[in-house]
Amino acid sequence: MSEDKLETTTEDTVSEDLKARKEKKLIWRRNFAWTCIWGFLGANVLMSLRFFFPRILFEPKTKFRIGYPSDFGFGVDTRFQAEHRIWVVRNTRGIFVIFAKCTHLGCTPDWVESENKFKCPCHGSGYDTEGINFEGPAPRPMDRARVELDAEGQIVVDTSTLYQCPPGAPCRFGEDGSFITV
Ligand code: FES
Repeated sequence: MSEDKLETTTEDTVSEDLKARKEKKLIWRRNFAWTCIWGFLGANVLMSLRFFFPRILFEPKTKFRIGYPSDFGFGVDTRFQAEHRIWVVRNTRGIFVIFAKCTHLGCTPDWVESENKFKCPCHGSGYDTEGINFEGPAPRPMDRARVELDAEGQIVVDTSTLYQCPPGAPCRFGEDGSFITV
């Protein structure tokens, strides 16, 4: 092979190498640009979707039906404790609803059937079957939620209205709405 021809071949190889490198760079830039564009569009789509799912805290309803008076026997009914934080109590005078919140610092007491009392697991307050405090640091009986009968005769509980019985102040446990006579 002549020297001229060898030189031409080497130049060709070098220019092909350069061309290939340039092309690679171009592809890389194009890919980078597309990645940026898709990333930007994706972020915008996500932000738009976020708009349709606002951060809302779904609290349990404060007014709800619990059934007919005949659905409740004498004593403490704990069926609604988990969902509504209440106990339904029936005695010889009627039906009332205790709001399951310790009046010391707000823990949820347990109904201890074997001892016939509510016992707060936090600091040991005890309440009798009517929610009246008799031991531990609780300063007053547990509150009672408003109850009434609807047109169908079902019991409607409203935990947004509570009746209290604080020491040294008028006790509201006898007021209309604090119990149902059955
Ligand atoms: S919160 Fe119930 S005894 Fe303290």
